[in-house]
Amino acid sequence: MSRNIAVTAALPYANAPIHIGHLIEYLLPDIWVRFQKMNGNRCLYFCADDTHGTPIMLSARKEGIEPEKLIERAHTEHFKDLTEFGIEFDNYYSTHSPENRQFSELIFERLRERGSIVKKTVEQAYCSSCEMFLPDRYITGTCPRCKASDQYGDSCDKCGGTHQATELIEPKCATCGTTPGRKESEHYFFKLADYEKQLKDLIASGYTQKAIANKLDEWFRTGLRDWDISRDGPYFGFKIPGEENKFFYVWLDAPIGYMASMKNYCDRNGLEFEELWNGDKWELYHSIGKDIVYFHALFFPATLIGSGFRPAKKLFVHGFLTVNGEKMSKSKGTSIKAATYLKHLAPEYLRYYFAGKLSGGVDDIDLSLEDFINKVNADLVGKFANLASRSGPMLNKKLDSRLGKLDEEGTKLLDTLIAAKEDIIADYESLNYASAIRRIVSLADEANRFVEQNQPWATIKTDEEKTRTTLTAVINAVKVLAIYLKPVLPVFTEKIEKFLNVGSLSFADIEIKLEDSRINEFERLIGRIEKEKVDAMIEESKQAAVSQPEPQEKFEPIKPECTIDDFMKIDLRIAKVVKAAKVEGADKLLNLKLDIGGVEKNVFAGVAMAYEPDDLVGKTVVCLANLKPRKMKFGVSEAMILAAGEGGKEIFMLGVDEGAKAGQGVH
Ligand code: MSP
Ligand code: ZN
Repeated sequence: MSRNIAVTAALPYANAPIHIGHLIEYLLPDIWVRFQKMNGNRCLYFCADDTHGTPIMLSARKEGIEPEKLIERAHTEHFKDLTEFGIEFDNYYSTHSPENRQFSELIFERLRERGSIVKKTVEQAYCSSCEMFLPDRYITGTCPRCKASDQYGDSCDKCGGTHQATELIEPKCATCGTTPGRKESEHYFFKLADYEKQLKDLIASGYTQKAIANKLDEWFRTGLRDWDISRDGPYFGFKIPGEENKFFYVWLDAPIGYMASMKNYCDRNGLEFEELWNGDKWELYHSIGKDIVYFHALFFPATLIGSGFRPAKKLFVHGFLTVNGEKMSKSKGTSIKAATYLKHLAPEYLRYYFAGKLSGGVDDIDLSLEDFINKVNADLVGKFANLASRSGPMLNKKLDSRLGKLDEEGTKLLDTLIAAKEDIIADYESLNYASAIRRIVSLADEANRFVEQNQPWATIKTDEEKTRTTLTAVINAVKVLAIYLKPVLPVFTEKIEKFLNVGSLSFADIEIKLEDSRINEFERLIGRIEKEKVDAMIEESKQAAVSQPEPQEKFEPIKPECTIDDFMKIDLRIAKVVKAAKVEGADKLLNLKLDIGGVEKNVFAGVAMAYEPDDLVGKTVVCLANLKPRKMKFGVSEAMILAAGEGGKEIFMLGVDEGAKAGQGVH
């Protein structure tokens, strides 16, 4: 009986590009979904961009664009990268969507009605200069344990220890360097412990792998704590109904994004969301990396149970990608963006290699570049592609592209190949792709031995019909192997389907024999990986790491060179401050009127912590006079004042002596 299945992959953050580590995440379900579709089941694959939260808001701010613009661009880029890797979603949506807002509000309201949400006052780090509460990752300081400098507020990279942001020595706001203060605020908390029994039952029913269940046991033993699901503005996210300046924490609405993606698909395709998510006819599965288990095995299922939705049937957790046995590293060039990979190498190399490494466990997955080159060249090119290129061209050139009949020996070979079907299906079903690949490779070995024994390149000179019989068996072997490989290698197998002159192959076609039919012109399936290409990819990744700072990096590296021509565009002038005033609602800003030699410009400058307005009137400053006017919340800013310093009170305007003439150029 055919099944109805829905699958989700974890949603990538909108403020970072897809890298090859992410590809594990999206490829793993992709292979499974393709397999299910080929095996006669209805299977839908959902994903979306994860668009909310402080890092995304700050990234947008840094670029001087609206967060909506940033997430729109990320969505286009992510979707393009993933599609080029052959990842085929039924819907690739966004958490910044009306469906997601509705579900988030609905779930929140239902939990509140049930008494699962409480309000509590908390004291948190607050940056008075940035005017925002600081998440742990936005506070840096010296590790209280090992005294390493420049560590985040939650953990230390050097000693690996975790700590509270309050324990950091000399804490600073990672954005502006100000020493954070403390401030109270009222927050909404979800009472996770209320769901301990249901969660334990869910895990006991085989919700996730054994190794993960053991980890969860530890967490149960430590006790489930209330979960803070609100954040104060400024924040990019969904406003909490009835609140002025409070938002849902990104991790509340992110997994709800799975529902939003499904709902959006259902509405466009005449399906009932209720049936897919909650109905008995559908099975739902999530796939995630091991770093986000807490959210998917505890928080999310608990919020679902509490709001009358069904948790998934299974949560599948995978390990992390390492390269050459180490964590991906920007400086070593092993933090490879999907887009960089695509410039140098064919996506199916990586699909094949990763499939050979995935065995359904939570262990980390290593991409050894040398092994990658060897495996792909030996198996994919040397065994699979080779089998086709040893039979196709000869049939095309010498035998009129026509297949004959299978003899006893050929039938025996095929029977061996076909007999592996149930095992291979079981491997795919249990996500043990590595085992499937091992079996398929050994079947290819068998088929290649058959070619060696029958020597078609020799028999073609003496006995054409005997050769046709041999090649007919080989072509049938190619067909069976193509079916087995299809979930992993969609492009490679599509070329084979075209060449064999058959329609889209599925597992049901395994037993069908190709006899007396015609094949099409053979086209090269795939070339060898050249080491130079891999080296070039690593080199490019290294270069990219130099010119592109990490999103949370505190010190900005020097920007790419600017030419003297670029510099000439900049019109620096001496300006006299004719008016200065505080700005209501922005502690950091002063509103200045500048006289630039007859022309007046309105400017908002972030110097209020360092200067009193009255002290500035009559003084001269240096300003960028031809800056494109920018509309801010409080008005239009038409120029920019040059200043230097650490920020906060430590800002010094590059003033010149008071006698200087306004409007003069700066040399
Ligand atoms: N936005 C959250 C997930 C929200 S799901 C409701 C997130 N985003 S992420 O971009 O950091 O990661 C997306 C997925 O990719 C996660 O499942 C994560 O575990 C996985 N991976 C990120 N880096 C990875 C590797 N280096 N290796 C394997 N998987 C990796 O977390
Ligand atoms: Zn700050």
